[in-house]
Amino acid sequence: MKTNDLNVVILAAGSGTRMYSNIPKVLHKLAGKTLLAHVIDTALLLKPKNIFVVYGYMGEQVKDLVSSLYPEIKLIHQKEQLGTAHAINCVVNQLDEKFATLVLYADVPLIQVSTLESMLRAYKNNIVILTAILENPYGYGRIVRDINNNIIKVVEEKDAILKEKNIKEINSGIYILPTKELIEWLKKIKCDNNQKEYYLTDIIEIASKTCDINNITTDDNYEILGVNNRLQLEALERHYQISLANKLLLAGISIIDKMRIDIRGNLNIGQDTLIDIDCIFEGNVSIGKNAIIGPYCIIKNSIIGNDVEIKAYSVIDGATINNNCKVGPFARIRPNTELAEDVHIGNFVEIKQTSIDRSSKVNHLSYIGDANIGANVNIGAVTVTCNYDGVNKNNTIIKDNVFVGSGSMLVAPVVIAKDSVIGAGSTITKNTKEGKLTIARARQETIDNWIKKSKKG
Ligand code: UD1
Ligand code: CA
Repeated sequence: MKTNDLNVVILAAGSGTRMYSNIPKVLHKLAGKTLLAHVIDTALLLKPKNIFVVYGYMGEQVKDLVSSLYPEIKLIHQKEQLGTAHAINCVVNQLDEKFATLVLYADVPLIQVSTLESMLRAYKNNIVILTAILENPYGYGRIVRDINNNIIKVVEEKDAILKEKNIKEINSGIYILPTKELIEWLKKIKCDNNQKEYYLTDIIEIASKTCDINNITTDDNYEILGVNNRLQLEALERHYQISLANKLLLAGISIIDKMRIDIRGNLNIGQDTLIDIDCIFEGNVSIGKNAIIGPYCIIKNSIIGNDVEIKAYSVIDGATINNNCKVGPFARIRPNTELAEDVHIGNFVEIKQTSIDRSSKVNHLSYIGDANIGANVNIGAVTVTCNYDGVNKNNTIIKDNVFVGSGSMLVAPVVIAKDSVIGAGSTITKNTKEGKLTIARARQETIDNWIKKSKKG
């Protein structure tokens, strides 16, 4: 079977009552991405003919997310959440009967494409159901087999008798079904159970009379764990993070403590780079070789070169930091900042929308915004580019080899000419001259005839 001869239905309409939340369960995030997007991204890897997402509870939010991120996916509204079979019923007349239908649950986010591919290989116009053996199967539908070990039904936790509750083989909620037959089987499903819902799982008992029920199991139980409450979400998050960390460790990246790293997006790292504890990486981050990321750093949508050192507690967002730079500790690098090679940014320095050319230094307590800084520039402690006049943002241009003395206010727009020096404590409002010293502060005076006041009497 060619993998693209397939309908995929992702069920995402449930209320997720056990999350106690104002956002629908499937929009809760795992590793910075919604549960639903995890499932959609995996489904897309199969290149199916159609993907349908059934949405319902607080559906506008689900609909907006899907239509903005995945315009090619078809959205189906389930007005009332009457159960998983009812959800499939809402989409069934749009399925292509020539192809099989793969059902995925949006609250089972870590399903792997390789597992779905093995299910597809096992599919021969029968039902293929993905099961797992769980030490603690509580809450899941149990797989009931006859004396010949054939699957004959799935019984939900709430409807199970004690003997069935002891079964450790569970239903993942992921199935491949022959579409034509599915339509017929759905007609026979009733809601005479403890939850008064139309269970898709009832299909197994109905179909088992005329159709083979095959099962595939996974080695990694996390793949099939569902998220019904925040405790389960946290468990999956940690598992997922550890698996990402394991991959990096095995690829030659050092991570001091794999329990204390969070990757919420795509992280590419070169060999021999070291990541200290409690760092968070968000969006698309790439880091070169031999870099050191100190503890407690947050790095988002940034490119970091080789041999760079980001010291403790630095926050970097939307920046490009080239080879051999040193940043931090306690530095904040904001969007549209580019540091050329060998730039040093020290503690309590904020940089926004600024380019800094090679070997320049901003080492202590400064704000540099909307600036263009040349090579070999030294910015003294407590320097501020006064970029905002209350209405507009203005640019500061500092040319090569400039030395800005400590405590200087550079009132933009202003150009600090090449090789010029600014005396400490200056407030610069006009462009400076090349190679000259500029001082803009009141002269120091000593009042010789001054007498200290004292209280009389
Ligand atoms: C379901 C299965 C159970 C299985 C478990 C695996 C049924 C009846 N039970 O139980 O056998 O072990 O998943 O995680 O299928 N949904 C809709 N519309 C509805 C109801 C649910 O779209 O009317 C969606 C939910 O958003 C969710 C999925 O279907 O993504 C499963 O629903 P949920 O209520 O979480 O079922 P479970 O009790 O977990
Ligand atoms: Ca569930």
